[in-house]
Amino acid sequence: MHRGSRELISRELAGAREYETLHEADAAESDRPVYHLSPRIGWLNDPNGFSYYNGRYHLFYQYHPYDSFWGPMHWGHAVSDDMIRWEYLPAALAPDTDYDGAGCFSGSAVTMPDGRQLLMYTGCATYGQDTLGRWRQTQCIAVSDGDEFIKYAGNPVISDELLPEGGDIYEFRDPYLWVTGDGSYRALVANASISDSEATRLVVYRSDDGFSWERQGILFEDFLKIGIMWECPNFFELDGSQVLIASPMNMEEEEAEGSVRFPKGNNVCYILGTYDEENEQFTPCRERADRFASYHPVDCGLDFYAPQVKKLPDGRCILIGWMQDPDMANRHDASIRTFGMMTIPRELSVRDGRLHQAPVRELGKYRTAVGSYRGVRIGAEDVRLDGISGRSLDLELDIDGSGCRELRIRWAQDESHHIELRWRTDQSVLTIDRSRSGQSEEITRHRPTGLYSPDGHLRLRMIMDRWSAEIFVNEGEKVISVTYYTDPDAQDISFSADGTAVMDVTGYKIDIR
Ligand code: FRU
Repeated sequence: MHRGSRELISRELAGAREYETLHEADAAESDRPVYHLSPRIGWLNDPNGFSYYNGRYHLFYQYHPYDSFWGPMHWGHAVSDDMIRWEYLPAALAPDTDYDGAGCFSGSAVTMPDGRQLLMYTGCATYGQDTLGRWRQTQCIAVSDGDEFIKYAGNPVISDELLPEGGDIYEFRDPYLWVTGDGSYRALVANASISDSEATRLVVYRSDDGFSWERQGILFEDFLKIGIMWECPNFFELDGSQVLIASPMNMEEEEAEGSVRFPKGNNVCYILGTYDEENEQFTPCRERADRFASYHPVDCGLDFYAPQVKKLPDGRCILIGWMQDPDMANRHDASIRTFGMMTIPRELSVRDGRLHQAPVRELGKYRTAVGSYRGVRIGAEDVRLDGISGRSLDLELDIDGSGCRELRIRWAQDESHHIELRWRTDQSVLTIDRSRSGQSEEITRHRPTGLYSPDGHLRLRMIMDRWSAEIFVNEGEKVISVTYYTDPDAQDISFSADGTAVMDVTGYKIDIR
């Protein structure tokens, strides 16, 4: 095992660090979200290695420093005392060996008993590409003794010989690590099969020391063939349920009762179930006999993918996602110097058999009320309220919709453009709509979502940050995340209704400086 020292930093990692130091100022402060993590410079996708280590939160991310488009993957690194204010650390990993030279793909982190941090990630090899140009994918580790993450000399630690029968070495990635009660490690890795290219298996591996791994079993197999590959799995216990979260690629659209359960494309779903630890067997709960019985969307918006969940020492289970529809990524103007951001970290809970989400409470300490109104009557004319405007605002709304058929909230608005959230009270459906956002290209323009508990009232927390909104509905029974890279001068927020709605609203500015 190498120890951390300057000589052990590769040319590629040193180059990435030099580049990010020299170029981070190329992206002006005004080009970034105010309180969502964006890359130090260049491109960001999945959250990786989310952890609480040595008294601070660490978040790594899929990172291409040299360009604002996806490219050979590095791991960027940020630390925080509260998961809201992040400070960049030097890039942690670069693609610099034969087994990961085409990219250090997603992975996770745990702390070892001796206090070191163990990262496991997917290496995309520079040798052995297939005819489609896909890379061989194996699982590799890097260990930190405080400063540097040193790639293990025995990498890769999970390779061909540990694939399950018929497993595809080119679709084998995104290890999710945890430590069991007896101190041994598990890694859950997504793997498509070659014999039936549509079925994903989530494979469990076991290790006593974190370095030497064996295959333990298949935790879950997607017999329903939902999507082609369940990327970025997460597996954890929460409020008495066992939760599996993963990101299936290329799903078909699924409709249900006037709403879209899943739009076409890449999605994130969760499954609640039970876990037989001895046999490493996860059994989904079935609520109904049809094929939709057990898996549900984690987010009902248009931009959310590849989240990572970590249980913190204080008992909270926190999720952070990449706030982007992967199909929409890589379409921006090449002059942009940074692209991509994370969601606000979210506290998870399971209530009434459903996953619920709330923005981390730490956000509260950065809020200052800028406008508060009670009993505002909303009708056909647009209502605008002093203080309730701008693109970075945390809004709390409580709306009585019993006197109206439809309520509309518009923001990022100017004379011609806006983002809209519509509530059809009679159908109990909420629709996010960015068809009039002013962006030229959008694959998915709107998405209707059914509400679970219609009672004529709607409670919303809308967390807006320049180019995004995360809308927590009815104490987090649904979350709707959406991005809109539109004119920052479109600052209005307005309300209107068919009929009359009555609303309490408070707006908060968030200042993290
Ligand atoms: C998900 C994903 C992962 C992979 C990473 C590569 O967005 O495709 O499966 O590890 O991104 O950047």
